[in-house]
Amino acid sequence: MLTKAQNLELTQVGRGTPMGEVLRRHWHPVAGVDELEREAIKPIRLLGEDLVLFKDLTGRYGLIERHCAHRGADLAYGFVEKDGLRCNYHGWHYGRDGRCLAQPYQDRVAPRGALRERILMDAYAVRAHAGLLWAYLGPQPAPQLPDWAPFHWPNGFVQIAFAQVPCNWVQAQENSIDPLHFEWMHANWGRRLRGEHDHAPEHVKMAFDEFEHGFVYRRITEDIDESHPLWTIGRVCLWPNGFYLGEHFEWRVPVDDENTLNVTWSYLRVPHESEPYVQQSIPSWHAPVADRRTGCWINTHVINQDIIAWWGQGRVADRTRENLAVSDAGIAMIRRQYFRDMEAVAQGLDPKGVLREPASAGGIPLPCGDAHEFFAKGLPRVAYEAHPR
Ligand code: FES
Ligand SMILES: [Fe+2]
Repeated sequence: MLTKAQNLELTQVGRGTPMGEVLRRHWHPVAGVDELEREAIKPIRLLGEDLVLFKDLTGRYGLIERHCAHRGADLAYGFVEKDGLRCNYHGWHYGRDGRCLAQPYQDRVAPRGALRERILMDAYAVRAHAGLLWAYLGPQPAPQLPDWAPFHWPNGFVQIAFAQVPCNWVQAQENSIDPLHFEWMHANWGRRLRGEHDHAPEHVKMAFDEFEHGFVYRRITEDIDESHPLWTIGRVCLWPNGFYLGEHFEWRVPVDDENTLNVTWSYLRVPHESEPYVQQSIPSWHAPVADRRTGCWINTHVINQDIIAWWGQGRVADRTRENLAVSDAGIAMIRRQYFRDMEAVAQGLDPKGVLREPASAGGIPLPCGDAHEFFAKGLPRVAYEAHPR
């Protein structure tokens, strides 16, 4: 249980808030590289800031404030130039560094450019990696963009899915260190949704460990023993806002205090017969959370089930009223780390998980779950088609 003040500190993401400043020490995936191939400008909201992401005519990415410094028009309707973005209302032209490069008419009648030189929009770094566009909203120098080893796995088909989730990011991330919910939210609820009435094997043991890039949880159910990868390797609560389980990543990207962009990056090894396979481009798509006709939450997909749980806790979960149990030890661990991170940033230090050294070739290895064997090493087509997953 947290106090009201602690819950606010943990969940607020705006500039100048304790956790907002921690989150501004990390890169966040905000869009698919393919999205800006299709449409050069995309409005985004990240950490409570309204921004516009764009790819200019020379192929360079920019991320600046969404509203024009002149009279506030929406730059999402602007047009890209060789260098930067131009407002469609009166033509002010901004560079990727947020400087105003041109002010038509004003430049003609007041060519000294005093007004132009006064203008400096917020402008942030953007990098393309693994099919995603990553943004960094913090102070310079920016840390290394995490280059995880699965981003380099060969012979795979990668896809990216985005889901807009109407709740705070922390309750989504607490799910990344919650072993017990697999038994109930996925296994048992899944059975009930299919009209089945038996119970999934119960959990008999759980453990939680910290490592350099986050936390690992391990679990055993009645049907497996300590030789199973769920116990010997576990699953990763990736720091500070990710989850990794062997063939896919999820990031809970804070849009603002009450909204989260859930980003899923999934790798699927092609059947052996299709190797060698080189993917030309990584597709991304927006996954619905509710049925468009009925408005009801989609509950058949595992990730959608999680989303229903997160949202069910409220727009911002009220942690003054909860009662943590033994299975929530991991949640208590990560909260302690978030508060240590806030303290570190207040003292001018890097929080946990900030990378200052470039990753060696091949990326940073992570512990992998049992899915790794199947998805990363691949199988002949016939075995692949018979696999229950
Ligand atoms: S509001 Fe953008 S140029 Fe006038
Ligand atoms: Fe889940």
